[in-house]
Amino acid sequence: MDFLISPLRKPLTGEIVFLGDKSVSVRLVLLSLILKGKITLGNLPFSEDVKSSLKAVNDMGVKLLKENDCFVLENTEPLRERGELPLTIYCGNSATLARLFLGLSANLPGIYELSGDDSLSNRPMMRVVEPLRKAGLNISFLKKEGCLPLRIESKGQTEFIEWENKASSAQVDSSLLFASLSSEKPFKVSSPHTFRDHTERLFAFLFARENLRHSEKLSFLTKTNHELYFYIPGDISSAAYFILLALLKPGSDILIKDVLLNDSRTAFIRKLQEAGGAITLHIKGESFEKYGDVRVTASSLKAFTVEPEEAASMIDELPLLAAAMAFANGTSEVSGAWELRVKESDRIACLISQLKKLGVSCEEKPDGFKIFGGFSQASNIVLDSFGDHRLAMTFSVLASLLPNPLMIMNADCVNISCPDFFEKLKFYGGKNVE
Ligand code: S3P
Repeated sequence: MDFLISPLRKPLTGEIVFLGDKSVSVRLVLLSLILKGKITLGNLPFSEDVKSSLKAVNDMGVKLLKENDCFVLENTEPLRERGELPLTIYCGNSATLARLFLGLSANLPGIYELSGDDSLSNRPMMRVVEPLRKAGLNISFLKKEGCLPLRIESKGQTEFIEWENKASSAQVDSSLLFASLSSEKPFKVSSPHTFRDHTERLFAFLFARENLRHSEKLSFLTKTNHELYFYIPGDISSAAYFILLALLKPGSDILIKDVLLNDSRTAFIRKLQEAGGAITLHIKGESFEKYGDVRVTASSLKAFTVEPEEAASMIDELPLLAAAMAFANGTSEVSGAWELRVKESDRIACLISQLKKLGVSCEEKPDGFKIFGGFSQASNIVLDSFGDHRLAMTFSVLASLLPNPLMIMNADCVNISCPDFFEKLKFYGGKNVE
């Protein structure tokens, strides 16, 4: 579906809340596969990636129930008997689901076939398959080498491995952390740069009070009857679009309530603060994840750069930061962001091609881009989201801030991570979406 976005009709003001963070939600849903008992989740988003994760655990035999405003995942009886037949797990658009399921399956003896939509079927799986094969998991590709669909044969145990996570990918790290539960010793995984640490935090939370040896952790999860409750803080990567809108729309002043403020996810906020953005954080709690409120008031931004060692820590916000760069005075640059080429789209090529349509002076680099700032926008421009949710939301932010309306193609892909994005934009922007 295409959307026509006009300039914001008023400054952004008031309070905004967001549905639960996608990365945290997918991990908590998948945890139900190895955690015996009941997990109750508050503020679980109804985004497509989370729905695919719920369907996957349900197909594996986890019961799903609604209790008041919460979602309950119950793994009380042994998971479904699978015999010789492979169980098919459809991952939709979610690489987090596919890669984390691969690691988790090391603890779940059986045969599985993983598949996904066209975009996911072209994304690299070798980064997790290679180490998992080395650890003893039998994985074969069913169509194209290195991509979904693939078949896993798990015996429920793995050998210790040492691995370098060259892409500094949180998904690789988390996949190996899950797989490592079925090995005698924890895997030794190193990486050049830092990235989101939700799985590490989840493990620290689960095992903190028990003082368990590594070899006892899996049976602690699978044999004890647990009852856990998690309130999932708002998605900071979805909030990011409204942070930039409020910074750049004169007169804006908003308070984003109860959003995830894990330091490994807020690097883009520190970057926007350095560029002159008036953003203040108020931390309200930190049980397993840090959360709190974010106040944003309109500011003008200076040009800025993202260095290779910073790219992984703000990888999902780089397209949005490109929009910020286009509004900033001076030359901005992103380097070391090779990973953008293998996201839901080739985010470097797709982003730069659409910015050029808006008359932004910018250039592609193999590992990022350069943006010189300023627009020379004509009217009747149509931007293609390439079915990539982060590009659709970035282009909607641009359209909301530029003088002429813009049409965004296939913009309903925002449902992948932020299903209420356009409702929110309409509400805070004064009905600027058709
Ligand atoms: C994610 C990690 C990142 C990010 C993705 C979600 C996660 O991917 O881009 O949207 O939940 O672990 P990489 O680990 O491939 O960098």
